Amino acid sequence: MTAPRRMTVPEFRARKGHGPPLAVLTAYDAPSAAAAEEGGVDALLVGDSVGNVLLGQPTTLTVTLDDMIHHARAVGRARTSALFVVDMPWMTYHLGPEDALRNAARVVRETGADAVKLEGGAKRVPAIRAILDAEIPVMGHVGLTPQSVLRMGGYRVQGKDTDAARIVLDDARAIAEAGVFAIVLEGVPAELAAEITRAVPVPTIGIGAGGACDGQVLVFHDLLGMTSAPAPRFVRRYADIRTIQVEAIRRYCDDVRERRFPSDRETYR
Ligand code: KIV
Repeated sequence: MTAPRRMTVPEFRARKGHGPPLAVLTAYDAPSAAAAEEGGVDALLVGDSVGNVLLGQPTTLTVTLDDMIHHARAVGRARTSALFVVDMPWMTYHLGPEDALRNAARVVRETGADAVKLEGGAKRVPAIRAILDAEIPVMGHVGLTPQSVLRMGGYRVQGKDTDAARIVLDDARAIAEAGVFAIVLEGVPAELAAEITRAVPVPTIGIGAGGACDGQVLVFHDLLGMTSAPAPRFVRRYADIRTIQVEAIRRYCDDVRERRFPSDRETYR
């Protein structure tokens, strides 16, 4: 049996202006990665949102490189065809280009990722350049960058007035010029996302950034309704898995308590 063809970084980048928009989804473990691939995603992103989504943490600031590698290895084992991108968590690329490169190399070597993603604009160019210099592709991320939650004072839409929009646009241009192969645009007005999409030569992947981006990304658990947290405005829930989970678990508990489970069929003789 031949292995399925994997999406490569050059192929992903070449989708700028060609073909349908790119569909990207986060994944944090092997079963979710396998389901996402079977559903046809172009890329799997092991986001540091694993902190909020799976680990019960209030922000992504407590996610460590070891956490990311642990989850990314599981995703890597299941991945067959989608591009495989792993987030660099907070403080793994802020201490200088050499440290950023050492940490990015750990991600690639220990997980088999095709690329790393890091947040930020012009300030992050030296780190991006160092990682690219070692032949590791980098995906950028500007706008509402969750690792900046303390500075932003919460998760707020960025680039809402002319000056703020200029900063996000300049940041996107700076990292595109540095050589990122794609840019996540998170939490920015649709008009600004459209302008950035026209201004940069690489695909923009939107989340809460309107429909003009070259692709979209959602968090796995948001898309499937696997969380009890209220969905942000930009989420479309394609299923309500949490209700199904809770109902099934309730039935299991009732069956155990009423001695309806296990039945004869579920018992070895
Ligand atoms: O951490 C994450 O899941 C992300 C995406 C939402 C873009 O960065």
